[in-house]
Amino acid sequence: MCGIVGYIGEKNAVPILLEGLSKLEYRGYDSAGISFLDESTGSGQLKVIKREGRLSVLESAIPEGTSARLGIGHTRWATHGVPSFVNAHPHFDCTHEIVLVHNGIIENYRELKEKLLAGGHVFTSETDTEVIAHLIEEYYEEDIEFAVKAALNEVKGAYAIAALSLRERDRIIAARMGSPLIIGLGEGENFLASDIPAVLKYTRRIIFLDEREVAVITKDEVHISTFRNTRVEREPVTITWDETMAAKDGYEHFMLKEILEQPRALQQTISQYVCPDGKFSFEHMDLGEDTARELNRVFIIACGTSLHAGMVGKYWIEQFCGIPVEVDYASEFRYRSPLISERDLAVVISQSGETADTLAALRLSAERTKHTLGIVNVLGSTITREARHTIYTHAGPEIGVASTKAFTTQLAALLILSLHLGKLRGSIGRHELTLHQKQLSDLPQLLETALSMQERIEETAKSLAGYSDFLFLGRNMNFPIALEGALKLKEISYLHAEAYPAGEMKHGPIALIDERMPTIAVATGSHVQEKMFSNIQEIKARRGLVAGIINTGDSKAREIMDFCLEVPETQEYLMPLLNIIPMQLLAYYIARDRGCDIDKPRNLAKSVTVE
Ligand code: G6P
Repeated sequence: MCGIVGYIGEKNAVPILLEGLSKLEYRGYDSAGISFLDESTGSGQLKVIKREGRLSVLESAIPEGTSARLGIGHTRWATHGVPSFVNAHPHFDCTHEIVLVHNGIIENYRELKEKLLAGGHVFTSETDTEVIAHLIEEYYEEDIEFAVKAALNEVKGAYAIAALSLRERDRIIAARMGSPLIIGLGEGENFLASDIPAVLKYTRRIIFLDEREVAVITKDEVHISTFRNTRVEREPVTITWDETMAAKDGYEHFMLKEILEQPRALQQTISQYVCPDGKFSFEHMDLGEDTARELNRVFIIACGTSLHAGMVGKYWIEQFCGIPVEVDYASEFRYRSPLISERDLAVVISQSGETADTLAALRLSAERTKHTLGIVNVLGSTITREARHTIYTHAGPEIGVASTKAFTTQLAALLILSLHLGKLRGSIGRHELTLHQKQLSDLPQLLETALSMQERIEETAKSLAGYSDFLFLGRNMNFPIALEGALKLKEISYLHAEAYPAGEMKHGPIALIDERMPTIAVATGSHVQEKMFSNIQEIKARRGLVAGIINTGDSKAREIMDFCLEVPETQEYLMPLLNIIPMQLLAYYIARDRGCDIDKPRNLAKSVTVE
């Protein structure tokens, strides 16, 4: 939520900031703004240009020839204060000598604001952010770094900030507590951003700022220290993503590109952990046989799409390892008293590795068990640094707000984890394991076949785009797939979609069924397929329209459905990875037919770094 960028160097900062913001727009797009030391007018003043709305509105407001060697920028997802010009970042202090951008929530902003107002400060916005600018002003004499640290010591909440001072014209000050910030290292120039894609065009050498750290960034150096003034030496990490991976590549939307990338992404995940000799290789996860055998329970904790992946993971871990699994929303887990103890494994799943609730759940788990594991996509993100073990999903950058390839690669990672744990615990024999690994390695090709149905799904979407309510049904490990399908549709097309385990339908949702509410039902081959067919008949008996996800060539399933979305057949336990493909494509095409802004759905942000 909210994206921050910064640049200092010899190049013109303005286009670099705008380009960086364009890569972070997925974090929020209520308003956008930049601040820079203006060279173009010769004033040398700290200038702010900001606009309500998308980045494109800001871009067109920037006068031709605007140039600067230093600047910061922001794209906003509103928390305190409506999306508007005045609430758009950057924010000044009273003197207009300090300017600031912020991602996060300042929890004690009311009391700070009252105190500052009483001290004579004049506020221009309704944001929580502005209090930090004024607080820095309070402490500022001649050292902006000192003033920032002093101000932040009074602030409670989650934040990443970047600030400039008119009097110290050679530096950007950045700090984080709870929201991500990375520094990109260049030659005679340095970059700052909330996320890696914003700097990929210029550098792949990245320093990840940690909690309670402040960075002073000049064009040639980066000095990091803690809020308590302890110097921090941190080597940069060279990341493997490149700029083209975060580009749209001629596709109409990132979401479509990312859906179609799934076979490659999955291949990448599998090849990282399953060696050609059939052994598993986990660079950042070495649970050990003794620990695996002694495990009592597994807790899987996540939000959104990642939670749905975790729900599928429960079936696999219970099936292959014989360990009970609890799956919980991170936002619920953290505020109950979870009975997690030292012989339990806590698995947190997160594409971004930064989701506030998931991170808090990880921290809570870590107080009670040392066995914590993150399944994460973004290299070096906070969860990967705080979890004891990490399995990277290697999906590459995911930009579309609606998660797709992150989901399938999370599934692959969970499946590999289940097999690995099963092996360590002795619940899966060598022969069985080899078989599973072979089946796993066939998956990317099967995904490719599922994607080849794209045009048919586009057709079906045309027939369904006019409805406003949908029911999604699945059973067993395809119930989470129904949940994920409904979520995709809600997120990007703003249509009402409910997902239920098909067996629950008779306990309520069936009352909704009539000819105006179509059902999307996962009915591929499984031990519960006949049950699924019966549920579908019950819907049809009430004049409900059914689009079924079925296996190619399944004539019985074909007969029952009004629309067929076909996927190839494979072992039952692998079907969730294929069944989600038509769901993603269906949501995509329905949203496109409805003219929705697919990559930037209203009110949503990809990385939710506030509660
Ligand atoms: C947001 C995104 C979802 C994502 C969820 C969890 O809601 O829009 O796509 O599934 O956060 O994010 P994470 O990065 O933790 O997987």
